[in-house]
Amino acid sequence: MRIALLKLLVPILLIPSLAYNQSADPNPSIEKSIDSILGKMSLTEKIGQASQRGTSSRVKILPEELKQAVREGRVGSVLNVLDRNNVDELQRIAIKESPHGIPILFGRDVIHGYKTIFPIPLGQAATWNPGIVERGAAIAAEEASTNGIRWTFAPMLDISRDPRWGRIAESAGEDPYLASVLGRAYVKGFQGDDMSAPNKIAACAKHFVGYGAAEGGRDYNSVMLSENTLRDTYLKPFKAAIDAGIATVMTSFNDINGVPASGNKFILKTILRGEWNFKGFVVSDWNSITEMIAHGYCADAKEAAFRAANAGLDMEMTSTSYENNLRELIKEGRFTEAQLNDMVRNILRIKFKLGLFKSPYVDRSRDEKLLSKQHLADAKEAAVESMVLLKNKNDILPLSKNNKIDLIGPLANAPHEQMGTWIFDGKDADAITPLTSLQAALGKKLVFTPGLANSRDRRDTGFKEAIAAAMKADVILFFGGEESILSGEAHSRADISLPGAQEQLIKALKKTGRPIVLIILAGRPITLGNILDDVDAIVMGWHPGTMAGPAITDLLLGNASPSGRLPVTWPKAVGQIPIYYNHFNTGRPATAKTFVQLDSIPVGAWQSSLGNASHYLDLGFEPQYPFGYGLQYTSFDYSNIMVSNAVVSMNGSVEVSATISNSGKRAGTEIVQFYVQDLVGDVVRPVRELKGFKRITLEPGQKQEVKFSLTAADLSFHNQAMKEVTEPGKFKVWIGKNASEGLEAAFELK
Ligand code: NOJ
Repeated sequence: MRIALLKLLVPILLIPSLAYNQSADPNPSIEKSIDSILGKMSLTEKIGQASQRGTSSRVKILPEELKQAVREGRVGSVLNVLDRNNVDELQRIAIKESPHGIPILFGRDVIHGYKTIFPIPLGQAATWNPGIVERGAAIAAEEASTNGIRWTFAPMLDISRDPRWGRIAESAGEDPYLASVLGRAYVKGFQGDDMSAPNKIAACAKHFVGYGAAEGGRDYNSVMLSENTLRDTYLKPFKAAIDAGIATVMTSFNDINGVPASGNKFILKTILRGEWNFKGFVVSDWNSITEMIAHGYCADAKEAAFRAANAGLDMEMTSTSYENNLRELIKEGRFTEAQLNDMVRNILRIKFKLGLFKSPYVDRSRDEKLLSKQHLADAKEAAVESMVLLKNKNDILPLSKNNKIDLIGPLANAPHEQMGTWIFDGKDADAITPLTSLQAALGKKLVFTPGLANSRDRRDTGFKEAIAAAMKADVILFFGGEESILSGEAHSRADISLPGAQEQLIKALKKTGRPIVLIILAGRPITLGNILDDVDAIVMGWHPGTMAGPAITDLLLGNASPSGRLPVTWPKAVGQIPIYYNHFNTGRPATAKTFVQLDSIPVGAWQSSLGNASHYLDLGFEPQYPFGYGLQYTSFDYSNIMVSNAVVSMNGSVEVSATISNSGKRAGTEIVQFYVQDLVGDVVRPVRELKGFKRITLEPGQKQEVKFSLTAADLSFHNQAMKEVTEPGKFKVWIGKNASEGLEAAFELK
């Protein structure tokens, strides 16, 4: 009540929209050059610049029709040209034979590496380390550009609260703050400070927007989002990427509250161009303009072209509605040449920034960089840091080197599968598997009996051999999870437990009495309810990439310590989804006290809800593992939380600190997390929001004070009037190990 009164008396802080966008920012000399080219271009060429042709990721020969289209200036960009001789051949045609010699922009999905494959983006998010993410993107750019690729369709910045959705693998997880920090790191890594450097490529923030909120986790599905949630959660990482200077944005396949993203003026014009002042260009997703016909938003391709172009979508990927209809739309006066000029201007601006007019051809001088020693070392470091230790009963990990090991499971020696989704250019032959590395480290002490041929294998024919070998071993290492094709685009799953007969094999192995270490390689959290108690340790390895083997070997044998933390809440069962840490409180928040367990209800009980809260009778209200969770081989204690000032003014700032000490016997890395709760708002606020984190490495017995600071702008949100505001009132803060624990303190903003 008092707080509400205070709010009436004290003016709230309105947050101005700050937009600065270096990489895509207009530069007078570039704008002049664009003007001069635009003045000469025919309508056909202008429409051509807005058209991206796509070939399948496997086509190796250039179609004659494509060459002719380039010659006539009807193509602005091509996606998936595999061979650099083909890249140069098309570029030569564009430069030498097309009417005004405008270079082609070659794009490809270089998502988590080109030849050197890093962990899937969800795994990279588990590192909570923007430094290694930036290095990974820089390596991807360095390698991809040796093949003439100057544009990648990454990073994917879709907030993902649903592990059924296959594309969660490609995301930075569920949190807008973490996704924003990592989004900026990707942009910096791909683009550098100057995109025209030959080893840099343009990045693309995708999918704009809300794609991760697909209903039921079914890919491409409808998205219903309140404007508050859209702005305070889903748009945040995109804004961060745009402020970091990202060159391009891709629209998503979904509709948002009934309006498909590719024809959505509100997101493209009002927000992206209007509020954020974005100066790069917007590309559609694959056929997403003409898919507006299937959505039931446009009657035909001409209408789809009109809706998309009018909404501010600059380049059409693969479908040809612009090529076939923009001219007529202009003739009819429904669309203007001036509007088309704006689209082309946005595209040419990025081509200039990439230096394509000066150096259009493939830079062939850097081949030795592909899979270089340094790239592999960085990929290994990323893989080590991505792995999350979820369980470690009796400190069974790290393993003693004297143990006899039975290596089991469909993913212990599956080079292709360990690389994960989107690895068009990563080669199985370059991927080092856990079997290879563990064998090198343990020699004869290791026996390999896979038990199952692949992750979906339902046959028990291999069980006998695996069990017999397990009987002779001290420890069982079980590499389970999902093959790479089970996550990623269009690969949603309704049941996200271990597929095939993996659970049965684990149950059979449990009977040997040998301790089981389960290493999960998967593109998403896996529900573990059926086997959680059968295994002694669990390591979530995601799909770790080329260097999975060396990374996991170092971790299991204690040459490295686990430091990964979950970037998503891990559910107990699919029925709990969506489950994420930064939810609202509800009027009846669930607590341990109010939780009513199914079996505790008397048979024939009288209908009553009194005392009950927002929970499931069978599974409660807590996840299996909270956001931010991860164990290590040592222990860290938190003490002495301090708030610099209990009362903070709107133009002031507050510092919150705590002391972290390594109370265990080994050195270790802790990811210290900082959360805030705004207790009362004009619209209800999340129970916690991540506002900062720090990676610290401490020797045994060492301690460190960790500080976080906040200003009013860090506490802003959109109110009922859709204004971005920070309201005065009381706030709670936590410094802790994950979203479910931590030392608590408070302050008041006045
Ligand atoms: C469809 C995917 O949704 C998108 O992420 C990707 O970049 C394009 N295809 C191009 O391959």
